Amino acid sequence: MQDEKRTGRLSAPLDELIPQSWIGRDLPPIIRDGVEYFLLGHKGDLFLVPNRCPHRGGSLKFGYINARDEIVCPMHHNAFSVSRLIARPTTLKLKTATQ
Ligand code: FES
Repeated sequence: MQDEKRTGRLSAPLDELIPQSWIGRDLPPIIRDGVEYFLLGHKGDLFLVPNRCPHRGGSLKFGYINARDEIVCPMHHNAFSVSRLIARPTTLKLKTATQ
């Protein structure tokens, strides 16, 4: 890290340093069939993920994505792999313009 500050060079390719996912936390609630979802972007795809933490139901929408591409729940700070969350049958993949 010190070298990065001194030289201005990164120690890894930029795409390895930036999480590949993002949460649409500023969007209004998305309700479908009585379930609240949040928008999740992952590697260019969009998903609706139930806004309930698998642990005890915290609002994942207000968590954050860490450097390992996990969503960290704001309630008890457990981290959940984005890949595993989007693979769950309750997650909905949205069609994009390129599909
Ligand atoms: S409710 Fe999310 S970590 Fe406990």
